[in-house]
Amino acid sequence: MRIYLTGASGFVGSNLAHVFAHRHGAEVVAPAHEHVDLTDELLVRRSVLATKPDAIVHAAIWNDPAGLRSDRRRAWDAYVGATRHVVAAANAVDAHVVLVSTDWVFDGTQGPAGESAPPNPINTYGFLKACSELIVTECAGRGTIARIAGVQGVHRARPSAPRAQDAGFGYLVVSLVDALRAGERFTLWDGPGLNRLATPTLASDAAELVRRALELEATGILHCCGGEHSDRVTLARRATRVFELDEELLDVGPPPDALVGEPVPADTRLDAAATARALGVDLPDLNTMLGRLRAEVDQAWSLA
Ligand SMILES: NC(=O)c1ccc[n+]([C@@H]2O[C@H](COP(=O)([O-])OP(=O)(O)OC[C@H]3O[C@@H](n4cnc5c(N)ncnc54)[C@H](OP(=O)(O)O)[C@@H]3O)[C@@H](O)[C@H]2O)c1
Repeated sequence: MRIYLTGASGFVGSNLAHVFAHRHGAEVVAPAHEHVDLTDELLVRRSVLATKPDAIVHAAIWNDPAGLRSDRRRAWDAYVGATRHVVAAANAVDAHVVLVSTDWVFDGTQGPAGESAPPNPINTYGFLKACSELIVTECAGRGTIARIAGVQGVHRARPSAPRAQDAGFGYLVVSLVDALRAGERFTLWDGPGLNRLATPTLASDAAELVRRALELEATGILHCCGGEHSDRVTLARRATRVFELDEELLDVGPPPDALVGEPVPADTRLDAAATARALGVDLPDLNTMLGRLRAEVDQAWSLA
């Protein structure tokens, strides 16, 4: 299978590329941002027509929360415009198109939200992702929306890129592990204004689910997430146990004032029962997911 992948130099995209190519032998075509800017319709079309992929997986985003608010034009073009270009190009070559999306399309009161729950985003990022989802739902000949959530893992394209805790769950475990393995204290943020409940997902597990969706030609909305919900503190404490770290170094406190920005959905748990049925898989519980994450982190450290 030939897969055209956008955003392959990013955190999620690099895991998609790894799983598609190295675990499943797919031919992955992944033009860099500097060669194919997805906001350029003609470039996208030419690039896809030249490649004739069986599928396009669209994981690229402009990842700059402050920029999304200050430059609405660029934000719209980078999310909604780029998705429109990708979907049109996929239709032109009759390719299956998968949009990687997010649990942040929900408002934080809908958890556990099923695949058919109506999105109700409360910040710019969620709004732009929900609009991008609609493009796929309404315009793709064969389209899938793969919502991922609370993504953990190693960045396979930029393994030494700085990892930091933020208002969401992304990178939470690895940033904690980095600190505790260095013998440093780590203050886990918890309190109002944060994403406090989610369904943490290993990036490579999400990639396996996307690949399975391509294999089965599963269309519609899928929740490509883990199999167990968690709050921030539970995830952090379980991680210290699975990684055999000193739990005494873990503090829990409020986030810094500087973090205050747009609203953040508090409870973004995803119900993925329909997805698991559609793909014929069991989703991993938290300990299984963390065990796999540890294996990936240890392997990345041994190669560094
Ligand atoms: N990380 C999470 O916790 C999380 C959670 C839920 C959903 N997601 C979803 O996962 C996807 C990937 O997120 P991520 O965290 O992996 O982001 P990321 O690490 O910031 O990667 C973004 C990628 O998009 C590329 N890109 C940006 N603008 C582009 C453009 N105009 N044309 C072509 N390429 C462009 C970047 O290339 P350059 O770096 O070269 O600019 C990079 O490869 C997104 O759809 C996001 O909504 C992520």
